[in-house]
Amino acid sequence: MGFFDKLKSAFTKTATSLAHEIQRIVTRSPKLTAQSVEELEAALLAADLGLPMTQQILAAVRKAFETQGKSGLDFVDIAIAEVERSLGGMNPDLTARPDGVTVVSMVGVNGTGKTTTCAKLAKRMAERGEPALLAACDTFRAAAIEQLQLWGSRLEIPVIAGAYQADPAAVAHDAVVAAQARNARWLFIDTAGRLHTKHNLMQELQKVHRVVDRKLPGAPHEVLLVLDGSTGMNAMVQAREFHKAVKLTGLVITKLDGTSKGGAVVAIQRELGIPVKFIGVGEQADDLQAFNARAFAEELFTAKDCTRIPDGCMTPDARFMGQALGLARRAYGRTSPNPMVGAVLVREGQVIGRGWHHRAGLPHAEVEALADAARRGHPVAGATIYVTLEPCCTQGRTPPCTEALIRAGVSRVVVAAVDPNPRHAGHGLELLRRAGMTVESGVLEAESLRLNEAFNHWIVHRTPWVTAKSAMTLDGKIATASGESKWITGPESRAQAHRLRLGADAVLVGVETVLADDPGLTVRSQPGFRAPARLPLKRRIILDTRARTPLGCRLVCDEARASTMVVVGASADPERVAALRERVTVVQAPERDHRIDLNWLLPELGRLGVVSLLVEGGGTVLAALFEAGWVHRTAFFYAPRILGGDASRRAVAGQGFRSLAEAPTLSEVESRRFGDDLFITARVVVPPRP
Ligand SMILES: NC(=O)c1ccc[n+]([C@@H]2O[C@H](COP(=O)([O-])OP(=O)(O)OC[C@H]3O[C@@H](n4cnc5c(N)ncnc54)[C@H](OP(=O)(O)O)[C@@H]3O)[C@@H](O)[C@H]2O)c1
Repeated sequence: MGFFDKLKSAFTKTATSLAHEIQRIVTRSPKLTAQSVEELEAALLAADLGLPMTQQILAAVRKAFETQGKSGLDFVDIAIAEVERSLGGMNPDLTARPDGVTVVSMVGVNGTGKTTTCAKLAKRMAERGEPALLAACDTFRAAAIEQLQLWGSRLEIPVIAGAYQADPAAVAHDAVVAAQARNARWLFIDTAGRLHTKHNLMQELQKVHRVVDRKLPGAPHEVLLVLDGSTGMNAMVQAREFHKAVKLTGLVITKLDGTSKGGAVVAIQRELGIPVKFIGVGEQADDLQAFNARAFAEELFTAKDCTRIPDGCMTPDARFMGQALGLARRAYGRTSPNPMVGAVLVREGQVIGRGWHHRAGLPHAEVEALADAARRGHPVAGATIYVTLEPCCTQGRTPPCTEALIRAGVSRVVVAAVDPNPRHAGHGLELLRRAGMTVESGVLEAESLRLNEAFNHWIVHRTPWVTAKSAMTLDGKIATASGESKWITGPESRAQAHRLRLGADAVLVGVETVLADDPGLTVRSQPGFRAPARLPLKRRIILDTRARTPLGCRLVCDEARASTMVVVGASADPERVAALRERVTVVQAPERDHRIDLNWLLPELGRLGVVSLLVEGGGTVLAALFEAGWVHRTAFFYAPRILGGDASRRAVAGQGFRSLAEAPTLSEVESRRFGDDLFITARVVVPPRP
């Protein structure tokens, strides 16, 4: 699909309703009446064109009626001319400074496609022969750094990245230095989209800009706000806020899909006078295009055939990728240390094969889908395959999938995310391209990255992705002063807790929880959750510096005891250690402040193949992990109860953080109800150490 076709598709919904509505009004009443003007005004406002633009169009229409005798059927032409006039006449592209580096700061809230846009613009410049560099300054989200690094390796654009939680301004400073040293012509800075408060975000952006300006006077030369085109008037609110704090020089509108409210683009430009420079109409690197006011205005007002986008709002690629993601999820909890992957084979719009990776050692999703198509008697030559992860190109436990796809004659490969392993990223796609296939990536990328967040982390850092789970009262208590904790939350929450265990490679608790609750920590069927029959080994880990774990407790005596690992300190009583060792695995760890040294343990667990670790408490252990910065995700259940009391146990105990600035915050917060309980899961953002 060419750019203009994509633009047409993008506008289908808005344009269809706006154009049809206009047509309905003007054919019924070709002469302009008070009622038809009112109706036209309502239609334009409903398409998010904003009051000033709406009034401008209506004034022009009235004038044309009165002075040139135009009829209602000319309304669309007049409206297009007015919108073009309002949007046009500005330099749509970026212009490099005559010499040296041109610094472009990309700002916007999370989820607008800012990181992806940075990479696409860098690619655009590199293709023009103007070397570009990327700076990963959204250091508040590990995922943003990883995503930019993936794009960088895929597009062969160098990325300057600081550590997760590093000072964004320092990373920007280093990036300017690197860009100058490497004679780059462009530097695109990806900035944070959300901090603890909006005020913080704006201050942080201003600081980044100040530091960059100090290093290279006049920089950043462009400040582009990335807006999600499907959010309508929300985009306007964001544009106002950002423009107030950091002077914007241009807009990039992304996600112009079937649900687009393209009118808002016009309203923003009209109110703030900021030119729209680029427009993203798809997931591919080439889908970011310089803005064309005439084409945009025409598409906004011209009626389309709605049937081209199935489901009204999803492109066919996204729809089939959605199915592939659903297949991938079927193996939840079974694929480690491999990721969950799904694949759908499509020929002439029909699904001819489905597959997913069942578990490590078994065939990959692509091979399963090919086998499924063969079983059902469908020829595969010329088909498109939708895979949630880049096909592997190296011999592992199974042969490379790229070979299987080439051999089968698949002609197009669409992937959601590239292989997160930096050593492989993009190589599989390159091989397929070289074999003559059409290859596209980035379709439902965010969903794929979320699905395999644990694997994506482990494959890069080799330490487990840690989820802190706790079940508490609304006032944050996990047990009474006497240690009673069964059951604070309801059965629906407990079913979800078992689902979380299923998704983890290991569950960890502190020895006090073992002493108080004698937990089993296995994945068991509950009302509302059926545990799968055969599961790979899930480790059960106890932090127990002094080897106090009772020899008669369930974790040491039950049928699953082969999966129990007691981590004792170097100073633990040798006799107690020996007694435990007769029954379960015992690991002797270095101590730090008379407790297990977590900075030793976490990398060790990663080395043992623990990709995802669920920490189930109690409060002392959770506090230690939070304080050491090892927690990546929270999974907190809140029951509608109040326990109160200084002596009752807290969900996160320990010393606590001394100031708000040092305390971790949460991003990408998602909440759900389980029965009467509230479940909140989010990514943990640890502030940089001073
Ligand atoms: N509602 C819930 O979700 C939930 C979940 C779990 C527990 N609970 C309740 O919580 C209570 C237990 O919590 P708790 O806070 O007292 O204890 P805990 O967190 O279960 O265990 C803490 C103990 O772990 C050991 N440990 C070893 N290395 C450690 C390290 N690096 N950092 C921290 N601890 C380390 C320490 O004992 P050593 O020094 O002897 O090694 C420490 O005292 C129980 O009443 C239980 O019922 C409730």
